[in-house]
Amino acid sequence: MRQAGRYLPGYQAVRREVSFLDLCRRPDLGAQVSLEPVERFGMDAAIVFSDILVPLQAMGVEVEFHDRGPEITRTVRDGNAVDALRKFDPAAQTPWILETIGRLAAVLPSDIPVIGFAGAPWTLAVYAVEGRMSKDLTAAKTMRWREPEVLRRLLFHLAAATVPYLTAQAKAGARALQLFDTWAGALSRDDYEGFALPALKVVFDGVRHELGEDCPPLVLYSRGSSAFLDLLLRSGADAFSVDWQLPLGDAKRLLDGRPVQGNLDPTALLGTADSVRHATRMMLASVEGQHGVVANLGHGVLVGTPPENVAAFVDEVKRAGETG
Ligand code: CP3
Repeated sequence: MRQAGRYLPGYQAVRREVSFLDLCRRPDLGAQVSLEPVERFGMDAAIVFSDILVPLQAMGVEVEFHDRGPEITRTVRDGNAVDALRKFDPAAQTPWILETIGRLAAVLPSDIPVIGFAGAPWTLAVYAVEGRMSKDLTAAKTMRWREPEVLRRLLFHLAAATVPYLTAQAKAGARALQLFDTWAGALSRDDYEGFALPALKVVFDGVRHELGEDCPPLVLYSRGSSAFLDLLLRSGADAFSVDWQLPLGDAKRLLDGRPVQGNLDPTALLGTADSVRHATRMMLASVEGQHGVVANLGHGVLVGTPPENVAAFVDEVKRAGETG
C-alpha cells in the first residue's frame, strides 16, 4: 500500500516531470515506479501503480490529485447524482492499468506476483460523497441516516463496477486482487453489516464467479475493524489485511486462522533502525510458527519514511523467514 510513493527518491523524480494521473496513464512510467520498491528492497510482490479513485473518474466523478490529497470537484450527494453515474468499462476507459499489469507480469520473475486492486465500495462511496479526506464523514453519514436507500444504490453501483475491473486486472496478469476498505472503521458494527458488507460480497462473489478456477487470492484490507473482524469472514475474501490495533496473532485467531496480512503501524518506520527491527520482531512473534501470514504494514508507507527503515523492516522479516 503506497509501497511506491513519495518517500522514494525515484518516485519523486518521476513526479517532478508528470502529474499523478498522467503517471497512472503511462504504463512505461507506472511499471517503473511499481518496480522501484521491489528492486530496491526485495519485496515479494509488486502492486500496480494506480489509485482507488481512478474508476470514479471513469464513472464521471471528476477527481483531482493535489499535494494535500485527492479532491472530487462535484460530489455525489443525492439520488440524481447516483443515477447519473456512468457504467465503467475498464478495457475502454482504463486500458493503461491493464497494460501496466501486463508489463509488470512480463518483466518480474515468476515468484514475484503482481497485485491488482480497487477501492472497497464503502471507501469509494465515502470519497464520492465527501469529496476529500474528512474527519467525521458528516456528508456520507448524513446520506446514511436521511437517505439510506440512496447510499445502498451508490454502494451497489460501485460494487457492480468493481467486478469487471478486478476481473480484467486478473486477466491482464494480476495474481492477487486486493480491495482497500480504508474507511471501514468509521462504521458501527451494525452499519458495517448492513451497508459495507453486502456490497463487498457482491464484489468478491462476482469476481470469483467471473474467473472460476483461474481466480487468484482475493484479499480484503480493512482499517479500524477490530470490533467486527468476525463479520469480515462473511465478505467472501480469502485473506485479510489488518491494521495495527490488535497483535497480528490475535487478529488471525478472530479470523478463524485464515491468511492474514499486516500489520506494523506505519509510524513505526519513522523510528530508528533498532526500533523498526524490534517492532517487526514483536509483530512476527505474535504469529510465530503459523502458516498464512504476509508481513506488511497496517496501512500505507507514510511520506517522510526513511527508505533505510523500509529496508530494515524487510531485512528483519527475511531473517525471521530463514530461521523458520
Ligand atoms: O504502491 C502502491 O501501493 C501503489 C498504488 C496506490 C496508491 N494509492 C498510489 C498513490 C494504492 C494501492 C493506493 C490506494 C489508495 N488511494 C487508498 C487505499 C489505501 C489507503 O492508503 O488507505 C486510498 C484511500 C487512496 C486515496 C488517496 N490517493 C489518498 C488518500 C491520497 C493522498 C494521501 C497520500 O499518501 O498522498 C492519494 C494519492 C496517492 N495515491 C499517492 C500515491 C503514491 C500520492 C500522490 C502523489 O504522488 O502526489
